[in-house]
Amino acid sequence: MVVILVGGQWGDEGKGKIIDLLSEGADMVIRSQGGNNAGHTVVSAGQEFRFHLIPSGILYPDAACVIGNGVVLDPRVLLEEMEQVESRGISIDRLLISDRAHLIMPWHPILDRLEEEQRGDDRLGTTWRGIGPAYADKIRRIGFRAGDLLKPRFLEKKLGFVLAKIKNPILRDLYGVEPLDREQILREYTKYGERLRPYLRDIFPIVQEALARGDRILLEGAQGSMLDLDFGTYPYVTSSSPSAGGALTGSGIPPTRVDLTLGVFKAYSTRVGYGPMPTELLDPLGEQIRRVGKEFGTTTGRARRVGWFDAVVARYTVALNGIQSIALTKLDVLDELDPIRICTAYRSKGELLRYPMSNISHLKHCEPVYEELPGWRSATSSARKPEDLPKAARTYLDRISELSGAPVDIVSVGAARDQTIWMDGSRLGALRDSHKRLQPVEQSQDQPR
Ligand code: GDP
Ligand code: IMO
Ligand code: MG
Repeated sequence: MVVILVGGQWGDEGKGKIIDLLSEGADMVIRSQGGNNAGHTVVSAGQEFRFHLIPSGILYPDAACVIGNGVVLDPRVLLEEMEQVESRGISIDRLLISDRAHLIMPWHPILDRLEEEQRGDDRLGTTWRGIGPAYADKIRRIGFRAGDLLKPRFLEKKLGFVLAKIKNPILRDLYGVEPLDREQILREYTKYGERLRPYLRDIFPIVQEALARGDRILLEGAQGSMLDLDFGTYPYVTSSSPSAGGALTGSGIPPTRVDLTLGVFKAYSTRVGYGPMPTELLDPLGEQIRRVGKEFGTTTGRARRVGWFDAVVARYTVALNGIQSIALTKLDVLDELDPIRICTAYRSKGELLRYPMSNISHLKHCEPVYEELPGWRSATSSARKPEDLPKAARTYLDRISELSGAPVDIVSVGAARDQTIWMDGSRLGALRDSHKRLQPVEQSQDQPR
């Protein structure tokens, strides 16, 4: 059984919480793209964990946690995170790292920051973690892979070419900054190799064996589909494919083996960094949602931009990823708002549009068309069953399902694991009732609720 979990908006949808929930009984959890630009929060037994590279499934003792080939890996950050997790009594014995994963090298964060500075007013608002430059080098075929850490002679030779012939001239001649020292990098990365050696593997046969056994595999998406390199708001995107397709190429799982694609959405919209966000609220209401929802980045601490739920975005990402089921998080954050708005279409150049347009200047200037729904003005954070939710909240969920084209099967009303509602008739019922050995989900012929 293979489940793909993707973020349906601009990241930070609460994927960490939902992955943690679905990891119970999973045999394998795989991160397949992104790097330590991701920040996934899991609250478990009152303790908060923030994962940047280690799959969120690490909190369950049985799941193999794989950093897949599609990830860009900063070994220094990974080692720090491994130490932190271990210091909290969590075993990392089940961690596996694909030797095909590309490495963030010391020049990547430096170039990320320098390129952003060069862009001036047109900067993207990246996380400065070196993600874009590392993926660019992968595509240019001058990247370093995790397996290279175990080959000091190869590393030395390759540094001689990439650092001496390409990166240092750029740093020195283009940006006027200090070039990097080859020997120092060689020593540092060789040391990382020694420490990561027990975890580095060719993951391909391991995943194949898991598939052959019918293991339950969860693909933990990072970022969100609106940050997708191809289908997001280019160039205000990340440099990987956080969509379902990227989950497959980033893990080596074939599309024919996927049983369920689950989309995680927040009950409203947020975005960190620059780029169009049609439903953004730049008023006191936006401030209020940011405060109640504690919308400050897990990775960079930046204030997140906040707006109404955008069903145009949801319709698009449901269609793009083939999302069959929605987990909607942070419903509790809307408890005091009345009315609540949902964007149902965009108006642009006299036309009414159902999907975000590819032309981002049109997207930037489009006018969101809103529908108003009554708020529920009562606390939902202790709701555990669909019946516990106020009628207006259920109407809101139904409307999100109808507009986006996929049923809302899981509703989250707080950061803790138990602050979760499995909706009636949920096609994920098998997941709730017997976490182990999920039954393949039948494709429903019904209209979305
Ligand atoms: P991710 O990147 O998609 O994993 O999301 P983040 O962890 O960056 O941000 C989501 C934040 O919302 C975290 O601080 C979570 O603990 C928190 N959170 C998740 N679900 C809920 C929820 O239903 N209600 C509230 N109030 N907070 C939630
Ligand atoms: P999780 O997994 C939210 C955003 C950055 C920036 C753009 C490009 O926690 O949902 P990058 O450093 O990737 O080149 O930055 O992408 N971004 C995220 N926003 N959540 C994330 O991850 C993000 N990862 C990258 O803010 O706008
Ligand atoms: Mg996050």
